[in-house]
Amino acid sequence: MHELVITGGRPLRGEVAVLGAKNAILKHFVAALMAPGRHRLDNVPDIVDVRLMGEVIAHIGAKCRFVGSTVEIDVPEDLLPEAPIDLVRRMRASILVLGALLARCGEARVALPGGDDFGSRPIDMHLDGLQALGAEFDLVHGELIARAPGGLRGAEVPLDFPSVGATENLLFAGVMAAGTTVISNAAREPEIQDLAEFLGKMGAVIRGAGTSTIEIEGVGRLSPASHRAVPDRLEAGTYLVAGAITGGDVTVRDCVPEHLRMELRKLGETGCEVTVGKDWIRVQGPPRPRAVDFATLPYPGFHTDMHPQMVALLAVASGTSVITENIYAARFRYVGELNRLGADVSLEGQHVIVRGVDGLSGCPVDACDIRAGAALVLAGLIAEGATTITAAQHIDRGYSGFDQRLRDLGADVVRRSPAPGST
Ligand code: EPU
Repeated sequence: MHELVITGGRPLRGEVAVLGAKNAILKHFVAALMAPGRHRLDNVPDIVDVRLMGEVIAHIGAKCRFVGSTVEIDVPEDLLPEAPIDLVRRMRASILVLGALLARCGEARVALPGGDDFGSRPIDMHLDGLQALGAEFDLVHGELIARAPGGLRGAEVPLDFPSVGATENLLFAGVMAAGTTVISNAAREPEIQDLAEFLGKMGAVIRGAGTSTIEIEGVGRLSPASHRAVPDRLEAGTYLVAGAITGGDVTVRDCVPEHLRMELRKLGETGCEVTVGKDWIRVQGPPRPRAVDFATLPYPGFHTDMHPQMVALLAVASGTSVITENIYAARFRYVGELNRLGADVSLEGQHVIVRGVDGLSGCPVDACDIRAGAALVLAGLIAEGATTITAAQHIDRGYSGFDQRLRDLGADVVRRSPAPGST
């Protein structure tokens, strides 16, 4: 358990470089399972979720060696096709091994992930899609027992919603299925395109990744490959909001501005000066932001994982903003915590009503998930006095060296471990 103690009031200034995207790299670890031999991944952040996915694939039989920001993954010919409940509970993305193991082993045992802080988060589209490719499922004692008795066969799979995870599970299954698989209404996130690129280097034949229709020609066997992950647009976006909220001047390097088009547009509407280059973005914060409305949507819409951070900014804007959360039923636990800091945020169904206040005042708050934790840190950067973020380990799941990098930009942030027995 860690705490971050932030003393607000300092404008952040300077440059910060981002590493590879968590939500791409987690899938690259799973993709590696598809081909025996040694893979190499570069630009990998040392974050808790990446280590956890390392444990998931280690359980299945792979060996991971972390050297700086490089990970070598050795995958054996024979795999143990299972992800048990303790791993799936700690790492929801473990469900993605389902498609990969069905492709590689023709079977898989994967604990069914339950709901979480964002709502029920079902996996019906993953299962329907894999069934269309010939998989069969039984749920026994909370575990999905999956088999593909006749082998996986390509099929047309229209998704009800462009789910990132369902698209990825189908990519894994489709690349080694017999014949052609067509995923329509596929997720178009840059991380999907990046996964398809890595699989392509392994010998997969995939067309249309990054668009709504992905066509896959199955191949019999894949070979190991090396890959450098796409930059983390959420990490980049979070540092940009840190610049914006403190009225500072922050440049994020090694990123892809195009991947944050909607978020940058909204930051511009709040009064930020936004400048972009080929692989950098600079945000100069206004003396006080203006209210803006936005709705979270699948890519290229406003990313749900930037919603809480943006609300932190709008909490101190002039005017009232209305945010509509369209991806998750219940991504609102951060609201109560933000209000403890003096924000005036209320909920009406899926709408978040943010009445801008003149200032926030520091107090202890709880980081309930990665992005909520990041948003509370951002709020702490401008709150008067000290803000203590408890359960900061949630933030460590997605941000490498968050507090150090904020300190490098001029923030007053201290990490401490609470004394044993304290609550
Ligand atoms: N959904 C269903 N049925 C399904 C699949 C999804 O109803 O079969 C619903 C979900 O419950 C959710 C919505 O569809 O309400 C979107 O889910 P999606 O499958 O697109 O998301 P995911 O793959 O579970 C990834 C990221 C999340 C990010 C979402 C949306 C990873 C490991 N996770 O989750 O990232 O919020 O896409 O972009 O890639 C984070 O990094 O903080 C994070 C939560």
